Amino acid sequence: MWRRVLHLHLVFLILLSSSLGVDRGNFKACHQSSFCKRCRAVEPDKSVYVLHLNTLKIEDSVMSAEIQNTQNLVKFKFELFSLSDATFRMKINELSPLKPRYEVEHVLVGEPQLERLEVKERAAEYIIVSSGNIKAKIYGTPFRVDFYHGDSLAVTANAKGLMKFEHIRIKPESKDDGSEQPDNQVNDDTASDPGAWEENFKSHHDSKPNGPTAVALDFTFAGAHYAYGIPLHADSFALKSTKNGDPYRLFNLDVFEYELNNPMALYGSIPMLVAHGPSITSGVFWLNAAETWVDIEGTHDQNVMSSIVNFVSGSVRTPEVNAHFMSESGIIDVFFMLGPEPKNVVQQYAKLTGTTPLPPYFAIGYHQSRWNYNDQDDVRNVDAKFDEYNLPMDVMWLDIEHTDNKKYFTWDSRRFSQPAEMINNLTAKGRKLVAIVDPHVKRDNSYFLHNDAENNDFYIKNKDGKIYEGWCWPGSSSYPDFFNPAVRDYYKTRYLLENYHGSTLDMHIWNDMNEPSVFNGPEVTIPKDVLHFGGWENRDVHNQYGFMYTIATYEGLMARSNGKFRPFILTRAFFAGSQRYTAMWTGDNTADWGHLKISIPMCLSVSVAGYPFCGADVGGFFNNPNSELITRWYQAGAFQPFFRSHSHIDTKRREPWLFDDATLHHIREALNKRYALLPYIYTLFFEHEISGLPVMWPLWLEFPSETAVFAVDDEYLLGDSLLVHPVTSPGATEVTVYHPGVSEIWYDVDTYQKFEGGKHTKIPVTIDKIPVYQRGGKIIPKKERIRRASTLTLNDPFTLYVALNQNKTASGRLYMDDGETFEYKKGAYLYLSLEFAGNKLTSRKIKKEGSFSTKSWLERVVIMGIESGIKSAVVESKGTGKITVNTIYDNNSNVLVVRKPSINMAEEWSILLQ
Ligand code: NOJ
Repeated sequence: MWRRVLHLHLVFLILLSSSLGVDRGNFKACHQSSFCKRCRAVEPDKSVYVLHLNTLKIEDSVMSAEIQNTQNLVKFKFELFSLSDATFRMKINELSPLKPRYEVEHVLVGEPQLERLEVKERAAEYIIVSSGNIKAKIYGTPFRVDFYHGDSLAVTANAKGLMKFEHIRIKPESKDDGSEQPDNQVNDDTASDPGAWEENFKSHHDSKPNGPTAVALDFTFAGAHYAYGIPLHADSFALKSTKNGDPYRLFNLDVFEYELNNPMALYGSIPMLVAHGPSITSGVFWLNAAETWVDIEGTHDQNVMSSIVNFVSGSVRTPEVNAHFMSESGIIDVFFMLGPEPKNVVQQYAKLTGTTPLPPYFAIGYHQSRWNYNDQDDVRNVDAKFDEYNLPMDVMWLDIEHTDNKKYFTWDSRRFSQPAEMINNLTAKGRKLVAIVDPHVKRDNSYFLHNDAENNDFYIKNKDGKIYEGWCWPGSSSYPDFFNPAVRDYYKTRYLLENYHGSTLDMHIWNDMNEPSVFNGPEVTIPKDVLHFGGWENRDVHNQYGFMYTIATYEGLMARSNGKFRPFILTRAFFAGSQRYTAMWTGDNTADWGHLKISIPMCLSVSVAGYPFCGADVGGFFNNPNSELITRWYQAGAFQPFFRSHSHIDTKRREPWLFDDATLHHIREALNKRYALLPYIYTLFFEHEISGLPVMWPLWLEFPSETAVFAVDDEYLLGDSLLVHPVTSPGATEVTVYHPGVSEIWYDVDTYQKFEGGKHTKIPVTIDKIPVYQRGGKIIPKKERIRRASTLTLNDPFTLYVALNQNKTASGRLYMDDGETFEYKKGAYLYLSLEFAGNKLTSRKIKKEGSFSTKSWLERVVIMGIESGIKSAVVESKGTGKITVNTIYDNNSNVLVVRKPSINMAEEWSILLQ
């Protein structure tokens, strides 16, 4: 068996790579993609599109008009909608297409609510419409739209005139002499492009039955210094200029040994871009699921930088960023989120595509994974060793080898003969199991899933109507079409406990390879001309496939517990909207320092694109980390939303106790820090669900006018209260930390040393140091009794860390519930507002109604930055009455500890220091 696994694995390696690092030849560059080349070749300021202002109508809050391509006279329907919360939507589609064009479904949380549009001004060249405090100025010739928040120009669409809309056309007939004759209305760049009607890449042929169908549009963000988002790329957080290279590519792909600092496509795509400057932030959400390339140019580009202060007629040119979106098919459907603050933009996007529902508590604990844990004894031993070495851990993971020959929903009967018992052994300690379920289905007539799929016509078809067959882990495989609701319904039932033998309610799911990965497919994925439900080509829907798959999984896990327990699902492929169902991770990284470093900007990019639950394989997937790297990786991972160690089958085992004692100790410390902080992280996830704000925040989200933080890649905020600057370089003895906010105070969470905001400081970093700072003015709840798993800490007492600001005040929030069910949706939770002012700390319920009782009590209060002279603390609550408790003051650190106030956390209470 192992031989076979290794053999298959070797085949995979040979197939995909002959040397270490990505084989770029497997993936297209823009110049190898005919539509990318055509879109990129459009010259600026020569737009051929006009909007006929005389066709403009406003009906039922929708403004519509005709746009025309003045070269080939093809007409388009333009629609503008104003949505609640400072957002415009603009749609452009062919007025009378030869056949319908794909419009993305399932991504928006609902039909957006429309606001009234009013005509403000009409002139010969333009019309201004407004709605609340946003307005749009629409120019006819050439077509262009300026979007304003108040009187500030935020974004211009078609500013550079790079719009392109390739209408669906009849294939030109070949003439006798072999040359092609364009049909009546076409004589454009597609006529001379041999890639317009078919395209070859390596040995793959794309039949392109619909010919050229690209759509493209450019956006200029006035006043923006940088653009961010459009994940997933292994690149800096602030997007780079693509002028001298390839555009950023959005096309879900399984890229073996991906490289850092380049715009190549990776596993997931979210076409959401945020542009930020000191006075305005805005965003563009390009709702298109086809392969998309995005060119970026702007003031962050050093060449252009010098021209920011360029005196044009005596005035200083304001900075700007330009983004040019180019998609292979679909329509132009774009949302303009006009801020004006960064938090507004993130929330405007969340309103459109939804937020991540509060995960079960265990999901924010530590996850132990490996490809593979070999058998149930291996799982049992690893689990036991975590206890033996006093290491908290919530979840063990099983990769593909747990199955019977990569037939998902089954178990290898020899190595996992008692799966339910194995899971119950974990649950007895408060732990869970995650098992992998990939979308490819082994073509094996003895496999029920394959038989069901064939009998019910569930598979994706080739262009000629035959079932598509590709090569993946099980060998010859086919791919269920998750766009078909019947397929999703069927998959949903596979997760029912009576169908998924050996699973229990404590087993959660990992969806991998769902780009989908096809080892022998073009660019290691499915051909673009395969057909999905509704007759759509994969070309139209590609980036959505993995997302549709995870919807089925989510619904399956919901159904198996009758909607009682919160599912946990990890996905590799994702699209806009995926955040509503899954956590994601950054895929197959490598055990090197660069990959550790890039995990921060990669997770920040998905965070600003509405997807908070992000992590990277701790330790690196490929290769073997040394003691220093694994230590630093645990320390960084402990402060990222999804915290999982995972490694490739060919790497050395790397459970923490396999390292030297010092490393084991540092890993334990990092885990303990994570576990102590879980109440705060859980509160952030709850607040994300209700507000849309991420868990990992770029510094500019909180300090929008502080230009020094705009391009920061090596630190971030966890919520609004903690600044995290992980050590990501080998042999580091110090790091330079920027403490943002000129009037802020930051406290080192280990030493309570104070740092003034608005300054860079060199911080010494011995191997046990994780530079983390609590912001003055904030209160952070922690649980400091470390147990085997987070689920065992439900009733544990709290310590409140109160960090005073310059006004000697602080505030914070704490959320608590049962950690696993949906009862919180019915009000079974506590959400507390904690305030410190006038030497008095109070806890009040933000939500008064509903009930949740807890045995948790307040064990300690640690107050940083307080003057000496406090003699005692008077605690007051219904349960305790008025009692005086001890305090201890440390003159060196200016920290006061209030000992054992012993108040139940479900009560409202106060502690007065006197
Ligand atoms: C690819 C995933 O990215 C990786 O994490 C996993 O271990 C392998 N597939 C095997 O399932």
